[in-house]
Amino acid sequence: MAGSSLQALIAKRLEGRVALITGGAAGIGETTARLFAKHGAKVVIADINSKLGQSVASQIQSEFKQPVSYVNCDVTNETDVENAVNTAVSLHGKLDIMFNNAGIASRDKRIESVDGDTFRRVMDINVYGGFLGAKHASRVMIPEKKGCILFSASAASLMSGGPYAYTASKHAVVGLTKNLAVELGKFGIRVNCISTIFVPTPLAINGMNLKAEQVQAVSSSIACLKEVKLEAGDIAEAALYLASDESKFISGLNLVVDGAATLAKI
Ligand SMILES: NC(=O)c1ccc[n+]([C@@H]2O[C@H](COP(=O)([O-])OP(=O)(O)OC[C@H]3O[C@@H](n4cnc5c(N)ncnc54)[C@H](O)[C@@H]3O)[C@@H](O)[C@H]2O)c1
Repeated sequence: MAGSSLQALIAKRLEGRVALITGGAAGIGETTARLFAKHGAKVVIADINSKLGQSVASQIQSEFKQPVSYVNCDVTNETDVENAVNTAVSLHGKLDIMFNNAGIASRDKRIESVDGDTFRRVMDINVYGGFLGAKHASRVMIPEKKGCILFSASAASLMSGGPYAYTASKHAVVGLTKNLAVELGKFGIRVNCISTIFVPTPLAINGMNLKAEQVQAVSSSIACLKEVKLEAGDIAEAALYLASDESKFISGLNLVVDGAATLAKI
């Protein structure tokens, strides 16, 4: 293999970057934190699960010999989000990547029985939490004239017929992404989101009351793409692409990682 190709294969695509990941203690956030650290990023995990978050941060740090820290942060609390962003900056001098990933699911499929408190809670975490992350990341990225803001959306942003609160929240995340991309482009800040189907994480495993393999089997059954299984690492790879210079002219995109499931009649 030519030297340059080998170099590309082993290159650390986020060398020296600082990334803040909400909901980074488990699931897609944890897997992304691991992949970002592997690629040379200094990672700050922000979550409400302190015990798990601290242990995941120290595991990743010792595995990849990269600084990985934990900050307690409820994304619905502006002071917490402001503090998480300030923590990343005070630890590492800057913030390059803000991944607004924390989210919860809902099961409210019948309009007449949708509980208002559940609806508000889902919108609060999935939409307002992401908005706060973008607001405080922008505060530190705008003066630097660069940065990358990512969101976890969902295939629910492209489909209808699912739970009300979750579907509405993920459509809103895409709207937020596009609006931010339009406003922040002039500051060199790229804003994108990622949408996927059922990934075997605690959210899907507990929410669907299935085992990890069964969650994967559901995704395999609705995806057009066969012979491969969807896993959290596939979303982390999409986040790595959107966070790295390889996507330097991509902004306002909803990157759909679904094996063409949402293109087919399910
Ligand atoms: N797993 C899937 O099938 C799937 C599919 C499409 C989209 N998504 C989206 O991906 C994102 C991550 O999902 P996941 O499956 O990894 O979930 P998960 O439940 O496995 O992990 C979510 C993490 O977010 C944290 N969290 C929850 N509420 C929080 C809050 N208020 N503040 C800070 N942290 C909080 C949890 O403690 C947990 O560590 C979510 O936005 C979800 O909607 C997941």
